[in-house]
Amino acid sequence: MSEKLKVSIVGASGYAGGELLRILMFHPRVELKQASSESHPGRPIHSVHANLRGLLPMKYCKYDELENADIIFAAVPHHVSMKIMPQLRTKAKKIIDLSADFRLRDPKLYELWYGVPHEAPDLLKEFVYGVVEVNRPNIIGADLVAGAGCNATATILGVYPLVKAGVPIKHILADIKAGSSEGGKKPSEASHHPERAGCVRSFMPTGHRHTAEVLQLLGSTDPHLVEMSVTAIDMVRGILATIHVTTETRLTEKDLWKLFRDAYKDSPFVRIVKDKQGIFRYPEPKILAGSNYCDVGFEVDERTGRVVIISAIDNLMKGASGNCVQAMNLMCGWPETAGLEFPGLHPV
Ligand SMILES: NC(=O)c1ccc[n+]([C@@H]2O[C@H](COP(=O)([O-])OP(=O)(O)OC[C@H]3O[C@@H](n4cnc5c(N)ncnc54)[C@H](OP(=O)(O)O)[C@@H]3O)[C@@H](O)[C@H]2O)c1
Repeated sequence: MSEKLKVSIVGASGYAGGELLRILMFHPRVELKQASSESHPGRPIHSVHANLRGLLPMKYCKYDELENADIIFAAVPHHVSMKIMPQLRTKAKKIIDLSADFRLRDPKLYELWYGVPHEAPDLLKEFVYGVVEVNRPNIIGADLVAGAGCNATATILGVYPLVKAGVPIKHILADIKAGSSEGGKKPSEASHHPERAGCVRSFMPTGHRHTAEVLQLLGSTDPHLVEMSVTAIDMVRGILATIHVTTETRLTEKDLWKLFRDAYKDSPFVRIVKDKQGIFRYPEPKILAGSNYCDVGFEVDERTGRVVIISAIDNLMKGASGNCVQAMNLMCGWPETAGLEFPGLHPV
């Protein structure tokens, strides 16, 4: 086998950074070089990510101490990423950004949804949007990839079979239930255990920023076309998107089987879950924890023709770090599944 590539992670003390470490430490083509944290410099990795104790003899460095590497993952908050990206580009040829800063092609849209002008607008056109299943040809061999939003990923993978086939869509409403790790490691009043435990809390009934990514996929700026409502639920990991789609022409279940099979026949991490019986006959995020799968299923309301698509992921895996490692594999010409074979746990 050829020499391993040296990979560093900026923001490795965060939840997504921790997942990158967990995956990459066993990746057959990768050697972990540096992991940065501003709050834990000089401390061992396991002082933050205790699951890696005894497995990864590395210490955190500060961002300023980052050396050149073959690949850098940036797992820092949005707004931070666009500030450091010009410098990061001098340190590695291939960069995968997990933040929202390089997902939208149009800097005006970025300002609209994220509230500040983009600070590196010239770089936007150089980044490839990173939902692998919808953009695989452009990701293969790419140098710069922007990982997608987790709620956007669940929604996009749910509707993509219809979009790919050119089904005329009238309206998409994605009703999303999200686990607490979606918000990152920084505590807040809302994430305080007595407030968060047991909650079913309407978090963003309208106006969620990931809507912009779904509109971008559809090539539309029509705010009526895609709507998203996000509810915080009592899970640590996991997203369940129940996506209600109205179409110009009526689709049958047989049509949907064909569209979904066609769209995902060459996608090892998307599974169609639609059984006639059993508790797991529809996608469920609980059994995806730690895995890179997106499970998708569907039903048609025979009375009204409404299509209901159900899509489940682990937000930190297929919604963030797992998908970005999958993208790295394609960027480097490696098998798409390398390092990502973990099937999840049952029961969990
Ligand atoms: N959580 C998810 O489900 C999810 C899904 C998709 C995408 N993402 C995106 O992935 C990125 C990381 O998310 P996360 O959930 O892992 O967040 P997180 O847990 O809050 O971690 C953020 C990381 O960024 C570092 N950081 C913060 N400010 C920094 C700065 N000015 N310079 C250098 N490093 C800085 C933090 O390091 P220190 O605190 O040690 O300084 C920490 O390691 C975000 O952009 C997020 O939107 C997250």
